[in-house]
Amino acid sequence: MNKEMIIENMRSYIEQLKIWSKEYYVNDNPSVEDAEYDALMKKLIELEFLYPDLTQTDSPTQYVGGTVIEKFEKFEHTTPMLSLANAFSKEDLVNFNEQIERNIDKINIKYYCELKIDGLSISLHYKNGKLIKGVTRGDGITGEDVTSNVMTIKSIPHVISLKNDIEVRGEIYLSKAEFERINKERIKNGEAKFANPRNAAAGTLRQLDSKIAASRKLDIWVYYFMNRDSNEIINHAQSLEYMNKIGFKVNPEGMLVNGIDEMWNYIEKQTLKRNSFDYEIDGIVIKVNDFSLYEEIGYTAKTPKWAIAYKFPAEIKQSKLLDIFPTIGRTGRVTYNAKLEPLQLAGTTVRAATLHNAEFIIEKDIRIGAMVKIKKAGDIIPEVISPVKDDNFSKLSIWKKALVCPECSNLLEITDGEVDQYCVNIDCPKKIIRSMEHFTSREAMNIEGLSIKNIEKLFAEKFILSVSDLYKLNTMKDKIINLENFGEKSFTNMINAIEISKKNSLEKLIFALGIRHVGKKTAKIICENFNTIENIMNATQIELEQIYDIGIIVAQSIIDWFKIKQNKRLIRELINFGVNMNYNGQKKIENIYITNKTFVITGSLSRPREYFQKIIESHNGKVSGSVSSKTNYVIIGSDAGSKLEKAQKLNIKIITELDFNKLLEE
Ligand code: IVH
Repeated sequence: MNKEMIIENMRSYIEQLKIWSKEYYVNDNPSVEDAEYDALMKKLIELEFLYPDLTQTDSPTQYVGGTVIEKFEKFEHTTPMLSLANAFSKEDLVNFNEQIERNIDKINIKYYCELKIDGLSISLHYKNGKLIKGVTRGDGITGEDVTSNVMTIKSIPHVISLKNDIEVRGEIYLSKAEFERINKERIKNGEAKFANPRNAAAGTLRQLDSKIAASRKLDIWVYYFMNRDSNEIINHAQSLEYMNKIGFKVNPEGMLVNGIDEMWNYIEKQTLKRNSFDYEIDGIVIKVNDFSLYEEIGYTAKTPKWAIAYKFPAEIKQSKLLDIFPTIGRTGRVTYNAKLEPLQLAGTTVRAATLHNAEFIIEKDIRIGAMVKIKKAGDIIPEVISPVKDDNFSKLSIWKKALVCPECSNLLEITDGEVDQYCVNIDCPKKIIRSMEHFTSREAMNIEGLSIKNIEKLFAEKFILSVSDLYKLNTMKDKIINLENFGEKSFTNMINAIEISKKNSLEKLIFALGIRHVGKKTAKIICENFNTIENIMNATQIELEQIYDIGIIVAQSIIDWFKIKQNKRLIRELINFGVNMNYNGQKKIENIYITNKTFVITGSLSRPREYFQKIIESHNGKVSGSVSSKTNYVIIGSDAGSKLEKAQKLNIKIITELDFNKLLEE
């Protein structure tokens, strides 16, 4: 055979295999037996083995993986990968629908309802019809380039019949059957089981060796077509049909509905069918069908307002309550926990659950030894809902709350107007240990190599009595390396991590301090506005409140924290140890027209909405999806609709893109 003939043979095998593969993996409707497919594949493999140089880049043999990479590269999404707001009841959906009806002044809106697949979202990029990149969601702005693994997923086409550059998004998942198979194999190999198909899919997609991904049958349902500017595709239903036509796997359960009653009907039907699918779903996604309404309905910072995820009610199971024990948090708050007879709940083994506070236990009359109902809040944290008042129940003693701290025996207190009990002893060892745990955690000062166990040990040995003592540990080498399980190497690792933490940008320290109501996001906002610890310490309540997203309570809490003598001393000590007290990120730019002002963007502009949003937010302004009396400016593009009318009615400043650029230059 000459070269041309070999290539011709290869091409004809490849084309035939592609057709069969699409029938099998995408359409779920094979026209030949597996054996016939395998036989042709074998012929292709043999030919490629004999003539490796002639192997075609789109050959299905390339799905088997083989690339091993060191780490996944970061990739900034072309447009952020948004998530969805949640609905938990029919009432939530009625509100969702009403808000949209009000916004666009129309009733009986067409919605597209589809299954919410419990997997991981992925963005797939095609150039000239060829798959070039697969990126995970990451934080929504930047994801990880997992192309080498995506290339091994048989139901993702490497080549599509549309030769444009497009991006589609969908959900990668593992079928229940494949999940069971993988777990059986893991048990056989002495490896830990995956908790559920979602975790298994996530673990698989993040394998650096693509052979591992290829050996597990990841799958996909595609649900989002990014190139919506095309004139022919004007709604979601059409986009799904189109994606399926050009080679993608689209879930067949989706359906168009009119208004809320049909929507609820669909949800009730799918709730009953839920367990019959060979993949896990955790709800129903509802999207406005008509693309032309999307801009008008708008977006919040993280979610579109034209779609919502209805989450199925959490699974509820019963188990025996073996004991109730209180724990103390870093603020001194008491949380009561249930020790349970182990049970399987929503994919994991549950042995403990929260009982919140004493008030909750007393109100529900929860007793040790009773059977209790348990669910996972937000599908993550197990919580006890109520006791089962069976025949045995009345024989059990009524539970009584703790009066003293289980750690330091100090009397517990309840502040006026609150239900929680607090240990107010500032020397309570548990409070100190918990604050150190928080201080060193990844999102705070990120001191790796200092496990909770080590914190407890160093505290018990009196090497660290407050967080500033962490920065003295380097002078105690001889004593520490003689402690049990504390070799020279772990000491060095710990000291290195502590040293590195000194360079952290200020927002990490502000979060680490554990000021009430100051989470990660608020810490960053404070730093963007004040830049140095000195400025923060000198800020007045009014100055703090002027910042968007900081209300009276947060501002008060910051002021109160810095008033306390011990806290001021802590900051002084940290400064002396060389801990960085400056914000290294981008400071918010002040602009009298934009800072602290609210903008609404409507109509088509020369750049995507997100572009303007980023600029406004970098100036500490806010972008809102709907016009109200609180709106300061409405930026209008062509085809501005009802938002423009509303702005005119409310007498709100209406500006064009050009005007906005002028404001920016001021
Ligand atoms: S649409 C802008 N459709 O749910 C809208 N998402 O909670 C983008 N998901 O991050 C999402 N099934 O990972 C959409 N049929 C479906 C979905 C779906 C599962 C996931 C997706 C998203 C998350 C939001």
